[in-house]
Amino acid sequence: MKIAVLPGDGIGPEITAEAVKVLRALDLKLEIEQAPVGGAAYDISGHPLPEATLKLAQSADAILFGAVGNWKYDQLDRALRPEQAILGLRKHLGLFANLRPALCYAELQEASRLKPEAIAGLDILIVRELTGGIYFGQPRGRRSSPDGAFKGADEAYDTMRYARPEIERIARVAFEAARKRHKKVTSVDKANVLETSQFWRDVVIAVHQDYADIELQHMYVDNAAMQLVREPKAFDVVVTGNLFGDVLSDEASMLTGSIGMLPSASLNDKKQGLYEPIHGSAPDIAGKGVANPLATILSAAMLLRHSLDQAEAADRIEGAVKAVLKQGLRTPDIASDGTTRVGTAEMGDAVRRALA
Ligand code: NAD
Ligand code: IPM
Ligand code: MN
Repeated sequence: MKIAVLPGDGIGPEITAEAVKVLRALDLKLEIEQAPVGGAAYDISGHPLPEATLKLAQSADAILFGAVGNWKYDQLDRALRPEQAILGLRKHLGLFANLRPALCYAELQEASRLKPEAIAGLDILIVRELTGGIYFGQPRGRRSSPDGAFKGADEAYDTMRYARPEIERIARVAFEAARKRHKKVTSVDKANVLETSQFWRDVVIAVHQDYADIELQHMYVDNAAMQLVREPKAFDVVVTGNLFGDVLSDEASMLTGSIGMLPSASLNDKKQGLYEPIHGSAPDIAGKGVANPLATILSAAMLLRHSLDQAEAADRIEGAVKAVLKQGLRTPDIASDGTTRVGTAEMGDAVRRALA
């Protein structure tokens, strides 16, 4: 079982180090190999996703990814920016299905800005399409406006597009997931305005024919953003496109206490997967030893479950995370009155000890 570890930038190396500690503490035969990615790779080799890193990722059963990005690279050509590394990995490996579970642990009800009764027991799964939509649609670029009221002015444009099979396969992932949960799927779109969204809705309805046991609901994305904070527990599985899923998953993280708690799995059709926290490289706290490593540690649990068929080891990690929260240990992002403040490494060590 080979795992490629790509720490990346900012807090990436700090949080992946803790997840690797936890993985190594399990008695599993894991081959773990590390490679640079993002700005860290650009600094060494002039490219955010060097050939050797991509090769390693392709040859691994699973990838544990930290985070990439830093303001100091924001002036580079887009193709050389750190974020292209994660986008490139998703595209090269065909990781179209992004699972972003948002779970509110009982111990963290007080850490959220929302009222405890609104989020107690929250368990939703965001299924985000990850290799299409406006993130990857061509053409895109800058030009002189060819027509309209601003003809001749500088303009920029992107293209939002989805093909039927692309929507069909992500809809199936959502319906299958719902079958193992509370049998409800909310498809989020903007069908009242966007052609791609009306098509998305039509295709999801067609796929639903095969899933009569699942309740299907449609919701516009603006309303979904509001309902997520109004009554989050009304959701079970949310399926949506690349851009809407990006935004809604950051929003959902605050229902759980902190963005430092949300893991993710990005899967292709061969069960190969990339696992990463949903947050970024947090340059504002990088190097301070205060980042919450739990989203990354929980991503390692998802890795064991989804790509390595090690459900028992995954359960052990998730149990250990619950245990340290019960012990009252908190990084600053999830701290509340009466809890014990710890740093990144102390939190990782505590999870490792709690594995037993
Ligand atoms: P961010 O998620 O990095 O940070 C947003 C806020 O959340 C910051 O205040 C940060 O300190 C806090 N935060 C994030 N993770 C935390 C953790 N584990 N523990 C405690 N606090 C945490 O988003 P941003 O500031 O918009 O982006 C910073 C950089 O990260 C950008 O370059 C962006 O492109 C990149 N990014 C990368 C990924 C990825 O690699 N998949 C994801 C999102 C953003
Ligand atoms: C995420 C991030 C990425 C995205 C960026 C860094 C490309 O925000 O994984 O949520 O937008 O998908
Ligand atoms: Mn994001």
